[in-house]
Parts: sequence; C-alpha cells; structure tokens
Amino acid sequence: MASSLLTIRSLDAFYGRAHVLHKVSLPVDRGDIVAVLGRNGVGKTTLLKSIMGIEVIRRGEILFRDEDISRLKPHEIAKRGIFYVPDDAGLFPGMSVMDNLRLAAGKKNFSIEPLEDIYPEIKGLLNRRADLLSGGERKIVSILRSLLTGSEVLLLDEPTEGVMPLMVKRIHSMLDTLKRRGMTIILIESGTKLQHIMGIATKISVMSSGRIVYFGEREKAEGELDIIKKHLFV
Ligand SMILES: Nc1ncnc2c1ncn2[C@@H]1O[C@H](COP(=O)(O)OP(=O)(O)OP(=O)(O)O)[C@@H](O)[C@H]1O
Ligand SMILES: [Mg+2]
Repeated sequence: MASSLLTIRSLDAFYGRAHVLHKVSLPVDRGDIVAVLGRNGVGKTTLLKSIMGIEVIRRGEILFRDEDISRLKPHEIAKRGIFYVPDDAGLFPGMSVMDNLRLAAGKKNFSIEPLEDIYPEIKGLLNRRADLLSGGERKIVSILRSLLTGSEVLLLDEPTEGVMPLMVKRIHSMLDTLKRRGMTIILIESGTKLQHIMGIATKISVMSSGRIVYFGEREKAEGELDIIKKHLFV
C-alpha cells in the first residue's frame, strides 16, 4: 500500500470497560477532506481524540508521515502539525479574538493578512471577546488559528453543528479553499449534512457503533448515496 500522510490502522479505544472504537482504519492522503459521518454517540469525537492522543487508551497504529505517533502526548502531536478543533471550538472565552489568534501563533511572527484572505470579516472581529461570537464565527476563528500554527492536518469536530445554513455553506467553502491550498482535513459531521459534504469531501466514511461501516472515495460514494443514507438512517 502506498504510504498516506496519515494512516489510522485498526484503532481500538475504551472508556473504562466500554469498548468505544472497534478496529477503526482510515487512509488520509495529502489534500484529502475525509468526512466521517455518523449519528450521536457512535464514537466520532473519540476517534479525533484518539488521533490527538487525548485521554483514551487504545490499540492500533497512527502513522503520520511514516512515524508512529500513537503513543505521543497531545502537545507533541500538535507540534508535528496536527491541529484539533473540538466541538466547542476550544477558544479562550474571556479573551479577544486577537489574543486567541496571537496565542495560536506562539513565538512565530503573526500577521492577520493570510487570514483575511480566507475570511475577510475577521478584521471586524479582532477586538470581540471570543465568548461573544456566534457559534459559526467561533468555529471559523478556531479554524483560522490552525493557519497560524503552520499545521498540515486539521481535525474538525462538527464545525457546522448548530450553525445557520448560510454559515454552514461558508464554513464548508472555506474548508474547500484550505484543501486547495494543501491542507488535509478530517471532517466530522452528523449525517444530516451529507448533501453539503458530498460537495467538498474527497473520501466519505460512516461510523456506527464505533465501527467504520462505509468507506468510499467521493466518486464511488456518489453512486452509493442510497447505501450511505441507509447506514446513516437519514
Ligand atoms: N469520557 C467518557 N467516559 C465514558 N464514556 C464516554 C466518554 N466520552 C464518550 N463516551 C461514550 O463513548 C461513546 C462515543 O462517544 P463520542 O463522544 O465519541 O460520540 P460522538 O459520535 O462524537 O457523538 P455526538 O454526535 O453526540 O458528538 C458514547 O457512547 C459516549 O457515551
Ligand atoms: Mg461528538
């Protein structure tokens, strides 16, 4: 098998005795948007946390650029270029957008320009406190932070959850732009977003009860929408 940028191989995860992920495998190539769809509680967030090395015991392998990262700590994984946007966006609520961005940039020189290029409205939000942003804006700021860290892979946990339809489109087209600029993305969404997802994802997978029950490249998936919907119960 050709080596992928990120290979998730036969991952098992547990909370105590509860076996939450079962032999989850996903190939992620450079420039992919790999969509992982599924209903509530099937293990989507646990998958991202497992990749990121957060609090889950696991079996299996996670290879990033051929290096096994599956026993590394979250900050070590982040340092290698994998950026995690949790479902609550993970911003510091009492701090301004500007300070949140500055923190992401760390010691690196920090310019707002590349962000404006992707999301021009960011300029008007810089002095706003993060907890006063709309849900959609919060997700966008969080995604923009990944650009300041120089990350290569984005793990996004339901970036359009609870976001109004216009903003859903906006966020997805932003992801498409990032993809075209070389970002690689694992995108968790609920099954109800299938239509939108088909427009941007390069690979589609469906999780059910901690297992990948469907996987297909976009072209194949387009011909198998009925099967996908059946798995999603939508
Ligand atoms: N910290 C935890 N301790 C124990 N069980 C947990 C913990 N976190 C999640 N679980 C359980 O693991 C399973 C998978 O949860 P997970 O959050 O990964 O699902 P999800 O697909 O992200 O769901 P949602 O769509 O609601 O976000 C669920 O049954 C959940 O109750
Ligand atoms: Mg979740």
